[in-house]
Amino acid sequence: MSDQSPAAAKSARLEIEALRAELRRHRELYYVAAEPEISDVEYDALERRLQDLESAWPQFAVVDTPTGTVGSDSDARFPSLPHSRPMLSLANTYEPAEIDDFVTRLRRDLTGPSAALPVVLTVEPKIDGVALALRYRDGRIEAGLTRGDGRSGDVITANAATIAGVPERLPANWRDAFPQPAPTCVEARGEAYLSLSRFAALNAERQDAGLEALANPRNATAGTLKTLDVEEVKRRRLSAFFYQLFPLPEPDGTSAADFPDHSAEMAALRALGLPVNEFLRTAGDAAGVHAHLDELQRRRDELDYQIDGAVVKVDSRAQQVALGFTAKAPRWGVAYKFAAEEAVTRLREITLQVGRTGVITPVAELEPVALAGTTVSRATLHNWDELARKDIRVGDTVVVAKGGDIIPKVLRVLIERRRGDEQPLPPPTACPVCGSPTSRREDEVALRCGNARCPAIMAGRLRLFAGRDACDIDGLGGRWIDLFLERGLVKGPADLFGMDRETLAGLPGWGEKSADRLLSGLARAKQRPWAAKIFALGIPQVGVSTALTLARHHDDIDALLKATPGKLADLPDIGPVVGEQVCAYFEGEDGRDLVASLRAAGFFLEHEDLPPKPAAAGDNWFAARTFVLTGTLETMTRQEARAAIEALGGKVAGSVSRATHVVVAGAKAGSKLDKAVELGIEVVDEAGFRARLDEQGGGHGSANA
Ligand code: IVH
Repeated sequence: MSDQSPAAAKSARLEIEALRAELRRHRELYYVAAEPEISDVEYDALERRLQDLESAWPQFAVVDTPTGTVGSDSDARFPSLPHSRPMLSLANTYEPAEIDDFVTRLRRDLTGPSAALPVVLTVEPKIDGVALALRYRDGRIEAGLTRGDGRSGDVITANAATIAGVPERLPANWRDAFPQPAPTCVEARGEAYLSLSRFAALNAERQDAGLEALANPRNATAGTLKTLDVEEVKRRRLSAFFYQLFPLPEPDGTSAADFPDHSAEMAALRALGLPVNEFLRTAGDAAGVHAHLDELQRRRDELDYQIDGAVVKVDSRAQQVALGFTAKAPRWGVAYKFAAEEAVTRLREITLQVGRTGVITPVAELEPVALAGTTVSRATLHNWDELARKDIRVGDTVVVAKGGDIIPKVLRVLIERRRGDEQPLPPPTACPVCGSPTSRREDEVALRCGNARCPAIMAGRLRLFAGRDACDIDGLGGRWIDLFLERGLVKGPADLFGMDRETLAGLPGWGEKSADRLLSGLARAKQRPWAAKIFALGIPQVGVSTALTLARHHDDIDALLKATPGKLADLPDIGPVVGEQVCAYFEGEDGRDLVASLRAAGFFLEHEDLPPKPAAAGDNWFAARTFVLTGTLETMTRQEARAAIEALGGKVAGSVSRATHVVVAGAKAGSKLDKAVELGIEVVDEAGFRARLDEQGGGHGSANA
């Protein structure tokens, strides 16, 4: 029995809470942001540690712990639908011996009539993509869903229909593929992925266009499935492999017959014309399974897609049903993950990266080397403790691996290859970007830049602020953020709203068009959902789903500023650790300044469904009002008028309705003007409109002057 003293209990509770918060953060990075910071192997190790602690300390159990739930890719920009059956995950193993344990356990756990049948196991590749469910009604596609939180998924039907081999209509004889009588509605589940060749081609195109490279095929797939522009999704050319097919309950409540086994299910998928992986083997015992696993691992490099292991399943449906599920995964299947592939190369240099939170990370710059289907030239070294522990020096010959195939890392140094001139790199005493002294927080291994105004920290914050899940500012890529900072045009997110059109248009690589695009993007940023705005603040530990929880329970920033750690800790998914961090952020100078400066810039932090606040005297006439432009404007184009309105916090709509606040009527205005008069809506002519713009300081970008 472990130490059960109050002190040990407290330390276990703190570690459990910290692990839960950490795992939730990594899930969000993986599923939502599609930008994981750690490999699957490291993630699985954290999850195992939590599982062990939770078993040792059952008094700290909670229902929504990451060990009992699957990760969530839910994204507020897409509608969601409940899954017909939960979309679960699989238990993982990296140890060959655990396959033997799995087979032994199956035989032991099988009871009832199906226990008398021989156990047949299937082995197939575990595709490293993104789970996808397709629902067909009467042979026509009805919905394409992501995993979401496993219970409901995001509806991405149009995007799913662009995937090679995913038909909008099943072949006319689709019913013949099912046991009779055939069902009305069916669901196929599988994995969407981006082929390695397509991934390389897309990155080559992006490089030509000066865009940032897609990090890896899986993340690119996740991002593509969650792209709003279906033409762009089509252009990416996703692929998929399907591995599940089942009838949905009939409208009269009866259920159609299921397949007798997984092999028959796969054959039916094939008959429907859905893409199915050609590697599907069966085995009667663990030794047979191992032989197939070895073959798959040998053939791994020949494939034009990434696999991160193999899936071993019980073939018989009757046995599957008898074995059933845990809360998170079926007992009839297991994922065997392949050990990371390794390569040997030389470490040319160690550079220092300063992140959004000021953490300084050493990065290995490597001689480019081929590894698991991509060329690797950089690897993370995590922190100085790790550098010292592994005794990594500049000039060393090192072994690199893609742990779980995501971010490459330096595993170890080949000491025997040292020539004597390799140089260790001591931890920096000054920030490589701004030169401020570095520091370490108590209980942290990370070294940080202590200057909140460090350009690298600012760049990270601005990137987060402008990013897709935050303000989604069209036209504001990372290199422009760097340019703005370099030129001293902005110091923080709020300054973005004060930029004027002329300055922007005059920047190298810019022009009027790109300036207008950014100004519209900034105006739209002010209309983003409240949860996205909370996420945009970059509060430590607050990712997209935590931001959503905060948004659901607080109407506006003032309510959030009043929240106490205790109150926040009671919200779903937010423990005491995150609760403390959120409050500490708003109590700190940085958080307070950001909120105040955004407010002053007309970026209101509040729920989008709150009734608009009445405009006070002297207020910006444009803010939060909806405009309709009609007729011909003489002194500006419609696009310019629109950009000016949006830059001042207004919205422009295409047609007049009761929701319209102002109609700007140019020459020869027609039916829209009539409608405005009929509805009693405020109408201004071009001169009046210009006068209002002048009141605000001349229009473009001067809303905050
Ligand atoms: S069967 C109850 N077969 O891996 C879940 N899954 O870690 C049954 N995956 O959720 C899933 N290739 O997204 C299955 N051949 C395969 C797979 C596969 C990839 C994914 C899938 C699953 C996850 C589990």
